[in-house]
Amino acid sequence: MGNCQTTKTHKVVVTTGDKKSGGATDINVHLTLTDVKDSVSNEIKLTSVWNNDFRKGQQEQFNLDLPGLTKIKEISVRRDEVGAKDDWFVDRVEITCITDNSKPSIFPFHRWIHADTKLSLVEFDTTLPQFEKHPEQREKELKQKREKYILVSKILGAPRQVEILPEDEQFSYAYEFDIAKEYASQLIKTTLIDWTTPEFDSLQDMKDIFKKCNIKVPSGIKEWRLDESFGNQKLCGCNPGIIQLCTQIPDYFAVTADLVEPFLEGKTLQTALSQKRLYMIDLRYLSEVECPRSCVLPGPTCLLYVKDSKDLVPVAIQLMPKPGSDNPVFTPADPEYTWMAAKMWFNFAETADHESASHLGHTHLLIESVAVCTHRELSPSHPMFRLLAPHFLYVMPINDGAIRSLVSTDGWIEKTMSIGRVGMFNIIRLKWAEWNLQEDGNFVKNLKRRGVDDVSALPNYHYRDDGLLIWRAIENYVRKVVNTVYDQPQKLSADTEIEAWREALIKDAEFKIFTYSLHAYSLTRNSGQVQHE
Ligand SMILES: [Fe+2]
Repeated sequence: MGNCQTTKTHKVVVTTGDKKSGGATDINVHLTLTDVKDSVSNEIKLTSVWNNDFRKGQQEQFNLDLPGLTKIKEISVRRDEVGAKDDWFVDRVEITCITDNSKPSIFPFHRWIHADTKLSLVEFDTTLPQFEKHPEQREKELKQKREKYILVSKILGAPRQVEILPEDEQFSYAYEFDIAKEYASQLIKTTLIDWTTPEFDSLQDMKDIFKKCNIKVPSGIKEWRLDESFGNQKLCGCNPGIIQLCTQIPDYFAVTADLVEPFLEGKTLQTALSQKRLYMIDLRYLSEVECPRSCVLPGPTCLLYVKDSKDLVPVAIQLMPKPGSDNPVFTPADPEYTWMAAKMWFNFAETADHESASHLGHTHLLIESVAVCTHRELSPSHPMFRLLAPHFLYVMPINDGAIRSLVSTDGWIEKTMSIGRVGMFNIIRLKWAEWNLQEDGNFVKNLKRRGVDDVSALPNYHYRDDGLLIWRAIENYVRKVVNTVYDQPQKLSADTEIEAWREALIKDAEFKIFTYSLHAYSLTRNSGQVQHE
């Protein structure tokens, strides 16, 4: 027992995690505490007055009278062999010295504690490997993680994924319950609609669906035919990261001054180009993507103009890469439905790019490969693991579910998208081969490279304006944490785990050009959440 004589009361709050099998009902838990003066307690068995259950998602409180110990800085939790079959996931332990009225000491465990094992943590559990007080425990944990988190290629040429979904990655009990509840509610609604709605004959039938579901009718249902609506989709729609400044008309795009000047509000083509009034989206690569059922994707290019009113509107669309008499450039001067069809074909191609590359490939799968490398190479106690881990929440089970259901051989993608799953995988493969961290993983550089960073030249680009606020907030936060953790260069050079993590991202996850770690932290925090929205 510690040397000090005064007995002090400590409140210990143990939170059991909300894992599917995270609660334990018949176990013995023993604590050993060390305070800031290095006084160490005897091992204390936690015993509740009413029961000793550590229930899933619940907190248990214990009051301990400890002679002499003041604020606690280190804790060891040991389970004996009782209840060996009971799994116990400890979310966190908080210890407050009530007598001293001190701030609680927080020990974020986030770990399973199996029978006959012991785990020791310092307060906040954030330690670089070179300063670890329990290196054997740390190495053992990492070894166990590497056995569970194995990076494999499930889709040839796409970002790699975890081989088998680890139990720790599965949805929590509460989250799964919410999903099931929402699913049931939507199922009832859609079944009712199915029963009461005949097949769509007109746009009015579609509008009526919103009323039946009590959902506000979207403005797009009135405006979708307008060129301004099409332009707005390119800036604020699902895929706003592919538009770029047009500084000259490329050889493969048969746009001439005569064709587009009628839509440039009195400017010549050259003037519009030099005034940064013209933007392009180039999706030519799609025409080379192999798709099932003899589906041929367009490989379109679209030219857009920023009007004096600040609206962005399309002024030319070429649907296939090679100019020719059988591949005309369509403009707003074409008959109404010809021009509308050109815009719809462009959107059809853009959807293929968005769902495959921007969404599944560069958001979901990319982050999973980072998450797996992080679990394999950084201890859960590593400060950078702590920084990144919240952003990996449910990435793996969501991807696992998507691959097994949505993108399966008889899934939604295969049934409803012309590209099918094979086309989708081919698009991901093509785009992932081009992706590199320095430019595609850096929001600021990406905007600059695409020439869309000039706010006055390209107005109403909320993806850029809002995204920059979020990117800077993330970067500032990450920079502060990184600079605090690595306040001396030798702390970084002596960090063997971070070096192993960097190597794993290059060699195992096949990240291209990877030299600047801060970008990786910012990327993972940005791509996993912000990009998805
Ligand atoms: Fe998603």
